[in-house]
Amino acid sequence: MWQKINNTCDFLKSRTALRPKVAIILGTGLGDLAKNIEVADKIPYSEIPNFKTSTVAGHQGCLLFGYLEGVQVMAMQGRLHYYEGYSMSEITFPERVMKVFGIETLIVSNAAGGLNPEFVPGDIMFITDHLNMFPEHPLRGPNIEELGTRFPDMGDAYNKKLIAKAEEIAAKHNIPYKKGVYVGTQGPSFETLAEYRYFHKIGGDTVGMSTVPEVIVAHHAGIKCFGISIVANVGLDANINEVSHDEVQENTKKAQANLSVLIKDLIKFC
Ligand code: HPA
Repeated sequence: MWQKINNTCDFLKSRTALRPKVAIILGTGLGDLAKNIEVADKIPYSEIPNFKTSTVAGHQGCLLFGYLEGVQVMAMQGRLHYYEGYSMSEITFPERVMKVFGIETLIVSNAAGGLNPEFVPGDIMFITDHLNMFPEHPLRGPNIEELGTRFPDMGDAYNKKLIAKAEEIAAKHNIPYKKGVYVGTQGPSFETLAEYRYFHKIGGDTVGMSTVPEVIVAHHAGIKCFGISIVANVGLDANINEVSHDEVQENTKKAQANLSVLIKDLIKFC
């Protein structure tokens, strides 16, 4: 595994002259942000040794190297999900490569179901913590000592300084936000109403099918993580939170614009 990580890293270094310290996983909600990246090198996952391609038709994925607000970034356009059938180590391989490449900060976004009854579609939530409900742990198996310790502490998995900085930026731009706990599940089905209630009861504020594996592996390797959920739907009680499709789209659009402003400022502090 260690050899594979290094081979992939060497390949990437031969394909780009850039040496970013920040990586962004462009999940749902960061599409707008992608447009702001001045792309220098774009490498399809299919050309990268040991990378898997997304099984979603037409979305095989690309790794971008470029500049965002003058700051060098590596950006994953398209991510892999556990529900596609990949193993946890396949899903999180890119984060291991990031570490060896020299990435120090990872910014990750997702679309999620809202569990907190105070949330409405279109809300932005800064992830302060997570509940790992995946059936397999991404660090299961031999530990790669070069990357991190066997039993990593998870108390600061979502970097508190980055959250504080994001809050400061949001206040400066009048951007509304929530903070809370993301529940990571395997999917691909959405939750039953009982499951939504259960995940809220055990402390979750949003629920989705990504982010947790990537953050665990990145944090294990000492990469600082900042995560955001965009609330796509509110699952707790469909009747109370009935929202029109147009409204959801409008809210999501607004959230995307706000997210772009936020990340463009935040990246200067990474
Ligand atoms: N559950 C899980 N994943 C999701 C949801 C949800 O309600 N909405 C968007 N992604």
